[in-house]
Amino acid sequence: MLVFLLAGHETTATSLAFALHLLGRHPEEQALAREEIVRVLGDRTPEAADLDRLPYLTRVLKEAMRLYPAAPVMGRNAVAATEIDGYAVPAGATVILAPWVTHRHPRYWSDPDRFDPGRFTPEAEAGRPRYAWFPFGGGPRACIGQHFSMLESVIALAMLLRAYEVEAVDTEVPVSAGITLRAMGPMRCRIRPVEKEEPEGQR
Ligand code: HEM
Repeated sequence: MLVFLLAGHETTATSLAFALHLLGRHPEEQALAREEIVRVLGDRTPEAADLDRLPYLTRVLKEAMRLYPAAPVMGRNAVAATEIDGYAVPAGATVILAPWVTHRHPRYWSDPDRFDPGRFTPEAEAGRPRYAWFPFGGGPRACIGQHFSMLESVIALAMLLRAYEVEAVDTEVPVSAGITLRAMGPMRCRIRPVEKEEPEGQR
């Protein structure tokens, strides 16, 4: 339970913060996300089954986690000596895998620094190696909370974006990589309540 709290809290908060920051810098994508939320949910409270009905919002979140993976590096210990791509790995060595690097590698991502949720359409995903995007790690020790986290994040984003417009104030956000990725300075944004359109006939 303790690991659930530790591993699940800051990671999800970081991913949501960067998703809002990126949407705050990209009003067109924010408008597309809000259009989907209003069309699918109307005024009702989202529930688990809505995840599949909010594909654009899911893509936004995946793209935010590509650019700002909450766990920017992770490691594995080699149980036996081996060779990977010509590099000798002695037994007991720690091998570092870095989503931060792979997620911005031009071999897998064109114009890698650009925010583009379109990279996560099913067709685009099928065209990439399985581990070009791995914010939740992989293999038997992959994140146990991956699906729960996507669910809570999409629901939280849906409720926030339905109610508020977000505009980024700080556009350059230097980050530092500890166990989790962190913004080194403030990541301020302006929020305004979304103006609701009045139904026909009541104008
Ligand atoms: C955006 C949110 C999250 C991210 C980016 C994330 C990322 C990760 C990563 C990279 C790992 C290590 C995987 C590996 O070494 O291959 C991990 C492990 C883990 N995560 Fe998450 N996580 C998130 C949310 C959550 C949530 C919500 C929970 C629980 C409710 C959770 C629980 C765990 C646990 C228990 C492990 C250890 C699994 C094991 O060693 O078998 N995580 N997570």
